[in-house]
Amino acid sequence: MSDSRLEQKVVHTTGDGIEEFDNHLPNWWLLTFFGAIVFGVGYWFYFQVFQVGETSQAAWRREVAEIAARSGQNIPVTPQQLLDLSKDPAVLAEGKQLFTSTCMACHGMNGGGTVGPNLTDEYWLHGGEPDKIYGTVRDGVAVKGMPAWGPQLGATRVQAVTAYVLTLRNTNVPGGKPPQGDKFAQAN
Ligand code: HEC
Repeated sequence: MSDSRLEQKVVHTTGDGIEEFDNHLPNWWLLTFFGAIVFGVGYWFYFQVFQVGETSQAAWRREVAEIAARSGQNIPVTPQQLLDLSKDPAVLAEGKQLFTSTCMACHGMNGGGTVGPNLTDEYWLHGGEPDKIYGTVRDGVAVKGMPAWGPQLGATRVQAVTAYVLTLRNTNVPGGKPPQGDKFAQAN
């Protein structure tokens, strides 16, 4: 098929009769070529340099975090729900068992504290409200050596062990660690 718009200037003829032309590159081709370069540079600045757009890695991280949240690691729970759980014998039994297996090493058998603070006094480093305690247990205090239990135990078990810790508040077990933090006047 011959294209009448091209000037068919023969520049070279090979021995077997194949002819080569020295035509200008068609505009549509040049536009695609330079357009791709411009697009590539723009794309790079948009996603990598200025990070205006969300890269596929960032989207992946966000989606994983959303799934983790939906699967229960960050399910919001109200203080009242936690207090109700702290009166449910089945939840407390699970919570106590979790405390013995997971928390006792640092908080003592009865919550009086060893490495970690006394959980049976009126003083709290991170707040003595049910939701504050829940948050501390779930997210931990990494720099101070309190692990984040949310990812390891999942929401339901963090709630159960929090419910159990709520029953330890103000029991002032004998031989407990000296108070740390601020005094919390318990409402219930
Ligand atoms: C490896 C040791 C360790 C383990 C295991 C551990 N904790 Fe802790 N925990 C700590 C330390 C250390 C702190 C004090 C953090 C600080 O100084 O801010 C702490 C703080 C806390 C607090 C906050 C106390 C306050 O005064 O505000 C709560 C509540 C708590 N832990 C509950 C738990 C529960 C429940 C578990 C088990 C699921 C647990 N901890 C397991 C070391 C531990």
